[in-house]
Amino acid sequence: MLVKSERLATLGAILAVLVPNLPPGSGAPQPPHVVFIIADDFGWNDVGYHGSEIKTPNLDKLSAGGVRLENYYVQPICTPSRNQLMTGRYQIHTGMQHQIIWPCQPYCVPLDEKLLPQLMKEAGYATHMVGKWHLGMYKKDCLPTRRGFDTYFGYLLGSEDYYSHTRCYHINHLNLTRCALDLRDGEEVATAYKGIYSTEMLSQRAITTIEKHNPDKPLFLYVAMQAVHSPLQVPARYLTPYRFIRNQNRRLFAGMVSAMDEAVGNITLALKGAGLWNNTVFVFSTDNGGQTLSGGSNWPLRGRKLTLWEGGVRGVGFVAGPLLKRPGTVSRDLIHVSDWLPTLVGLAGGSTNSTKPLDGFNVWNTISKGIASPRLELLHNIDPLYTDYTPCAGGSSSSSTSRRFSSDSQPWAKSGFNVSIHAAIRTTKWKLLTGYPGCDHWFPRPGDDNSSSSAQPEPLKPVMLFDIENDPEERKEVSAQFPTVVDYLLNRLQKYQSGALPVKYPDDDPRCDPGPTGAWGPWA
Ligand SMILES: *[C@@H]1O[C@H](CO)[C@@H](O)[C@H](O)[C@H]1NC(C)=O
Ligand SMILES: *[C@@H]1O[C@H](CO)[C@@H](O)[C@H](O)[C@H]1NC(C)=O
Ligand SMILES: *[C@@H]1O[C@H](CO)[C@@H](O)[C@H](O)[C@H]1NC(C)=O
Ligand SMILES: *[C@@H]1O[C@H](CO)[C@@H](O)[C@H](O)[C@H]1NC(C)=O
Ligand SMILES: *[C@@H]1O[C@H](CO)[C@@H](O)[C@H](O)[C@H]1NC(C)=O
Ligand SMILES: *[C@@H]1O[C@H](CO)[C@@H](O)[C@H](O)[C@H]1NC(C)=O
Repeated sequence: MLVKSERLATLGAILAVLVPNLPPGSGAPQPPHVVFIIADDFGWNDVGYHGSEIKTPNLDKLSAGGVRLENYYVQPICTPSRNQLMTGRYQIHTGMQHQIIWPCQPYCVPLDEKLLPQLMKEAGYATHMVGKWHLGMYKKDCLPTRRGFDTYFGYLLGSEDYYSHTRCYHINHLNLTRCALDLRDGEEVATAYKGIYSTEMLSQRAITTIEKHNPDKPLFLYVAMQAVHSPLQVPARYLTPYRFIRNQNRRLFAGMVSAMDEAVGNITLALKGAGLWNNTVFVFSTDNGGQTLSGGSNWPLRGRKLTLWEGGVRGVGFVAGPLLKRPGTVSRDLIHVSDWLPTLVGLAGGSTNSTKPLDGFNVWNTISKGIASPRLELLHNIDPLYTDYTPCAGGSSSSSTSRRFSSDSQPWAKSGFNVSIHAAIRTTKWKLLTGYPGCDHWFPRPGDDNSSSSAQPEPLKPVMLFDIENDPEERKEVSAQFPTVVDYLLNRLQKYQSGALPVKYPDDDPRCDPGPTGAWGPWA
């Protein structure tokens, strides 16, 4: 229903006259090209238009002429955001609630999930992917080329070296640290790119993909940048504007952002040069909040990557391109990374009939026309295995998961939800967190040691409620004032948890070892 009416709305807007059920080949306008760029670990305060000291002229300009999504959510780490983007479904429904897929874990996004590129392909699109996969690769059936992409150039894991394209990983069972290449062209290992900076390498491949594309066919191009994930590596020329940044991590990170911003500019220029831009829907999104340990900043939001605080999940995102009905606006509607699948398949005139039940909504009318979002609720996650293994550096915080908990979980026993579990849910303006949400520090604005809250934060409680609309920094915990809201949201969590798949998080399989001369890749 939604998909069909969406499609009609899109066609109607283009045709001015609504013609239902256009047969194919009848001169109907081509569905739009869809170009989706995802940045890695790009934080709330790392983009120019949020007031960052980092310069992002391309992102600023593109988004200023498009729609900035300012109430947009992603997942707190890499694999989960990409998983939800590709399936349109919450992690509790794929068994992937916990963590990322590590190099030697024998699992991937379940093979009975239909992925976004498969649906775009069914709708008649040419589908191409460049960059980071991170959705599992232990066997060939898990690879992007087997899951809907016509072509693929990129790396299958995460955290590689930007120049050598190798990934080092300690294989416990073998008691050795293996450093091996992780770069593929299609399914073949790509050895010819040593020394080429990843951001340039990936954007160059995106550009040649655009140039080679037959414009008569709609294009779906997914570019998953390595930038700006650690390690902090960048060609010196990108550092020139940032001599004023004293913190070395932040300075290198800023240079990496500049390179990524330039890559985005180059890709949009290529779309214009190829004559595709006038019929392109261009999406830019981060995958999760910034990592403060590696130069990222989510100021003034609380927490960071890997946490369920706003600093982990509130994402930088925007849509650009001439098909937007209200260019130059800001959307404050609730939108989530799982919404892209139904939204983009809807734009493509495709069908989501063959997917498992979606958690995402088609939000095109919200983005393009400012119509209220169909999404009223958002499950951030429920992860019974969560532990926080990185130190919560800076200021008053320590890293123990049990620290500063007052053990008053009894009042909330009614719903049946185990409030020791790391979970968060949002309904309209309310956000409820249970268990330990992760590092809860308010990291200062980079270069400003005074912007940190000097006061010792309140002890964390097993159940916390925030009014995110009025308190986006999560400073005022109000569960005691709104017990009815708490009860309601705990019941919602319990309902979700009762429909959750068991967590899949297998032990490493030592057969993953590519040996001293091999490359990371399928072993099973
Ligand atoms: C693992 O390797 C290190 C050095 O390579 C060695 O010192 C250590 O004893 C090894 N541990 C086990 C459990 O074999
Ligand atoms: C962008 O394009 C320019 C001109 O071709 C090139 O010099 C530059 O390296 C490109 N930047 C990136 C990040 O690919
Ligand atoms: C886009 O530009 C091409 C080439 O200039 C033109 O043929 C096509 O009709 C344009 N499409 C739209 C939707 O304006
Ligand atoms: C999808 O389902 C709807 C409603 O049941 C139906 O009208 C439509 O024809 C289906 N589309 C496809 C492509 O199967
Ligand atoms: C509640 O969840 C915590 C964290 O996952 C777990 O350790 C504990 O066993 C659970 N309690 C019950 C009663 O299930
Ligand atoms: C930080 O606070 C100190 C002492 O109050 C003040 O001297 C300094 O100018 C402040 N720095 C900034 C960047 O505001």
